[in-house]
Amino acid sequence: MRQFPPDFLWGVATSAFQIEGATTADGRGESIWDRFCATPGKIADGTDGNVACDHYNRWRDDVEMMRWLGVKSYRFSIAWPRILPAGRGQVNQAGLDFYSRLVDGLLKAGIEPFVTLYHWDLPQALQDKGGWPARDTVSAFVEYTDVVSQVLGDRVKRWITHNEPWCISFLGHANGEHAPGHKNQWGEMLATAHHLLLSHGQAVPVLRSNVKNAEVGITLNLVPSQPASPSPEDLDATRAFDGSFNRWFLDPLYGRGYPKDVVADHLAAGRISSDSLDFIRKGDMEDIATPTDFLGVNYYSRGIIRSDRIPEEKNAPRTVHAEPERTDMDWEVFAGGLTHLLTRLHKDYHPPCIYITENGAAYATGPDADGRVRDTKRVAYLSTHLEASLEAIRQGVPLGGYFAWSLMDNFEWAFGYQKRFGLIFVDYATQKRIPKDSAHLYRAVVTQNSLDV
Ligand code: NOJ
Repeated sequence: MRQFPPDFLWGVATSAFQIEGATTADGRGESIWDRFCATPGKIADGTDGNVACDHYNRWRDDVEMMRWLGVKSYRFSIAWPRILPAGRGQVNQAGLDFYSRLVDGLLKAGIEPFVTLYHWDLPQALQDKGGWPARDTVSAFVEYTDVVSQVLGDRVKRWITHNEPWCISFLGHANGEHAPGHKNQWGEMLATAHHLLLSHGQAVPVLRSNVKNAEVGITLNLVPSQPASPSPEDLDATRAFDGSFNRWFLDPLYGRGYPKDVVADHLAAGRISSDSLDFIRKGDMEDIATPTDFLGVNYYSRGIIRSDRIPEEKNAPRTVHAEPERTDMDWEVFAGGLTHLLTRLHKDYHPPCIYITENGAAYATGPDADGRVRDTKRVAYLSTHLEASLEAIRQGVPLGGYFAWSLMDNFEWAFGYQKRFGLIFVDYATQKRIPKDSAHLYRAVVTQNSLDV
């Protein structure tokens, strides 16, 4: 019997910048991703989000596709620059109306909206004032949360404050691969992480007061890690990796403060100095640890960690692969990591509920001559990861739902449109959507609430 619990929330996920397009329509302001895409050399294929999947104009068809898929819920994000084009202050009614219509369309189709407030598209106007490293952005986010939840709160019950704060802080401020593209700014990276977490914690009570029976949480990208060998160097590197990637966010959210071992690593490496954490003010850690209703987990792969301090392997990558299968992102396919991660979260942090808010695989497979998209590798990825999710439920994890990333192929950030994560294929020249074999499989699973399909 490979049946899921009766109220299991089956869904698909997207984000605004990756699918909407229409970046100048109806008064939308500029976001840091518009600016980043317009900077030569930042996006692998030189593309941008100007048209993307044209979801802003085609959302009715996309809702129809979701109805066909049979999903119970749709996780999407709101573009902050559509709501407050200058980041704060003047509200753009046309932007609010778009999401209001989308929410109504979803509810009419029997699909529950699951909103992410921040999926990386900060208004450029706020970046110009310092962006996430600046503490003022915290109150701007709370203001934005208030505006959106006052309007949608009568119809949207489930809210995610932030998506993947690690990516925003590390990729945006330390390795520079994401907007705003700052490199080696370790102080900025830590201030960003702190202000994201703080704005999350301060937004929670606002959501609770604007939304009756609100369910509120945050989504983290978590990577279960294990050492490449039992050497003390690899063990220590694994501790450090888990610390900066996973515990840095989990520990403060669950009331334990920032992990001291990671602070020590940063100090020892000369990345920060003793006053670098001065952005932490009295009361912040309590705000960050405000209780939530669920933890959102994005899982794609595990990390097998090798120390870069073993002299003869000085330039070795910090992660190595064991399984032969990798996706187009070069991420190792390892479904067991998902069960492992979920059981660890349950044991170490016991969130009241966990949703897998993203899981999926990039494979470029397109239509065959007969028009069918035989994405067998994604079918395998999906099946094994659903199996791993079910196994976690069997082991007692309070897993409330699963959201496939993604509903359709879309703009994969610094990689542009070359990486395809969709259950639905998008022909960008015509905007035609074609359900892949994986979409048919997912449809069968969600409609039967079982893996025996
Ligand atoms: C994480 C992000 O939330 C999403 O925007 C991205 O497309 C997927 N993972 C795949 O990389």
